[in-house]
Amino acid sequence: MPNRAAGKPDVRLAAAGRRVAVGLFAVLLAACSVEKRDVGPSPPGSAPSGPNDPREKHYTTNFYEMSEGGRLFRWIGCDRCHAEGAPGFRNLADAQWRQGGSAPQIYASIAHGAPGMPGYDGLLTPQQIWQLAGYVHGLQEVKPNMRRRNADAQEGEPSGATWSGGLR
Ligand code: HEC
Repeated sequence: MPNRAAGKPDVRLAAAGRRVAVGLFAVLLAACSVEKRDVGPSPPGSAPSGPNDPREKHYTTNFYEMSEGGRLFRWIGCDRCHAEGAPGFRNLADAQWRQGGSAPQIYASIAHGAPGMPGYDGLLTPQQIWQLAGYVHGLQEVKPNMRRRNADAQEGEPSGATWSGGLR
């Protein structure tokens, strides 16, 4: 009898310990989702299905996807017209949208273009347009160091005129 009584607190402690461990694991999992890299099997092969496309959350919250979008933004030359401080609706960071500021709407702007802007449908893959849409969407909310770090990490790398290695 005394043994059983003495055993009870241990059981409660173990249960509490399990709860703490499960809680910690959940926190860690949540922290990891913003860093998740998708290596397949299915990069998005299509444009948004509508305003409630379930892929929106991934592309507007995942720092890896956003920073890939930021890299593309420079590579493709979006910043030629949409540089920081660009005027009017060319300023993509001021929360003033002519064609809509949700990720699916931004996707449509990029894919179909705007007066004075070419459409990129067919030139870029749906995945690249999703990444760009996530990046542009996050311009107001996400800290620059989180969404730009891929581009920044490559800043010092030789390319073009500064490349001194072989060509093959
Ligand atoms: C040749 C210049 C040019 C280039 C290059 C360009 N844009 Fe644009 N973009 C514009 C103009 C002009 C508008 C329309 C502004 C307006 O409505 O007054 C626009 C509109 C947009 C809009 C809609 C803004 C709104 O208010 O709804 C988005 C989003 C956008 N561009 C993203 C991009 C992205 C991403 C790229 C690169 C893939 C890109 N643009 C490349 C000139 C350009």
